[in-house]
Amino acid sequence: MRQAGRVLPEYREIRKKFDLLSITRNSDLAAEVTLQPVNKFDLDAAIIFADIVTPLHGIGVELDIVEGVGPVIANPVNSYVDLNILREIEPNEDVPYILDSLSRVRESLPSNKALIGFAGAPFTLATYLIEGGPSRNYSKTKSLMYSDPKLWHELMIRLSRIIASYLRSQVTAGADIVQIFDSWVGWLSPSDYSKYVKPYIEKIIQDISDIDTPVIYFGTGTSTLLRLIKDTGVDVVGVDWRIPLDEAWATLGYDVAVQGNLDPAALLGPFSVIESKTKSIIECTNGRPGHIFNLGHGFIPNTPLESIEFLVDLLRQSGAKSMQPTSQR
Ligand code: CP3
Repeated sequence: MRQAGRVLPEYREIRKKFDLLSITRNSDLAAEVTLQPVNKFDLDAAIIFADIVTPLHGIGVELDIVEGVGPVIANPVNSYVDLNILREIEPNEDVPYILDSLSRVRESLPSNKALIGFAGAPFTLATYLIEGGPSRNYSKTKSLMYSDPKLWHELMIRLSRIIASYLRSQVTAGADIVQIFDSWVGWLSPSDYSKYVKPYIEKIIQDISDIDTPVIYFGTGTSTLLRLIKDTGVDVVGVDWRIPLDEAWATLGYDVAVQGNLDPAALLGPFSVIESKTKSIIECTNGRPGHIFNLGHGFIPNTPLESIEFLVDLLRQSGAKSMQPTSQR
């Protein structure tokens, strides 16, 4: 999630001089910013610094990432002609800087720390492309999905192809694991998820199955979608804080790993609240292997650094194990 950007003073310093897209296009800066939170908090994994709209920007979709707003698209998609902006991606030519950042980070990251590559999921990217930016209820997206299923299909297929090539290239460049962010998919009912989203997640998983890299799939508000998400064949399911972790895991089944799910807002509360909520998540796992501790969504701006330090110390004391070195997996 948007971890470094929201809280670290050293990141904010760099951001005073460069906008987000410029950082992603400068591999020196992107590598530095990627490593900042890992070095500061001795985290087990680094997530490459980019945004979900980075590959779209790479193929020439006109967009900006506006502070306090998120991605804003210059020419939103609402017809077949508009789809022409979504050509196939050639990662080596369209996003060489991301691949370069990944290789650099992998080189300087200790072998017992994982490097996570990522992409936005087709649905979540489609919401930005159709709405033109963030949305309160995704009405334009749903309207297109229901009224022109053929156009929806064409849009989702194009996005799925871009995402699969982009993820594949990130693994070649050095990512140990990839994460697909479907942040806004929880606005769909299970039947709409099955019909309008699931086939495309399955297609992406199938397209990259030969590279034998674990895939994490994350969404918010997905309590009612968990079984369907598991059916897509992902290896790890990220869950937000709205559902107790034990309930989510029981629903998914224990043959899939889980990631989550501390409410980021807990870090705005006193240490006692952080402690009780964190312990309750650990208890939910019942000592079972296959849990990656994480927030249930991205950090909230102005989260106190001491709260993050307190959380990491707490997890280390609780016996949470660090990741295995890549070579031992
Ligand atoms: O944290 C990291 O360093 C990893 C890099 C990362 C960013 N975006 C950079 C970024 C990752 C993994 C993302 C994913 C992303 N981007 C998602 C999926 C995960 C999630 O949080 O739901 C989504 C939906 C986006 C789109 C996006 N980009 C939003 C909604 C925003 C927030 C706008 C705001 O300022 O509130 C962004 C901006 C963004 N992308 C920031 C960072 C570090 C915010 C800080 C900044 O402007 O520097």
